[in-house]
Amino acid sequence: MEQTLIIVKPDGVARGLIGEVIRRFEARGLRIAKLSLVDAPKETVESHYDEHRSKPFFADVVAYLTSGPIAVMAVEGPNAVTACRAMMGATNPADAAPGTIRGDFALSLEENVVHGSADPESAHRELGIWFP
Ligand code: TYD
Ligand code: MG
Repeated sequence: MEQTLIIVKPDGVARGLIGEVIRRFEARGLRIAKLSLVDAPKETVESHYDEHRSKPFFADVVAYLTSGPIAVMAVEGPNAVTACRAMMGATNPADAAPGTIRGDFALSLEENVVHGSADPESAHRELGIWFP
């Protein structure tokens, strides 16, 4: 069994999409192992996006993730990391296939509704940050 860290970002929460995101993962056969609705501290989001610290969009993505409540969850199942990434679609919703979460619910790269860990190592690190 594998766990991955999924976040419904502020735009997703504001638009009432927590249930839709969870529904899709559960319908696939994945289990919500942990779930928390949080106003994330800036430092937590900064360490979450540590790999992007030097990128030009870092400040904006941190400001966005701290702009409102987010739903943080550990999603569990066989190959949960890969399965969730595939169900989320491409980072830029303009490239995300219909049928994916981003392909169905997002249009903007900056506000792309969900985060999902990129690989098992990232999942382990991110789960440790949000569920210490
Ligand atoms: P990244 O880890 O590359 O994508 P993903 O969320 O698919 O793992 O980037 C993290 C988030 O940063 C991404 O979801 C949206 C935002 N972002 C930008 O705002 N501009 C960019 O150019 C990139 C690459 C990402
Ligand atoms: Mg990423």
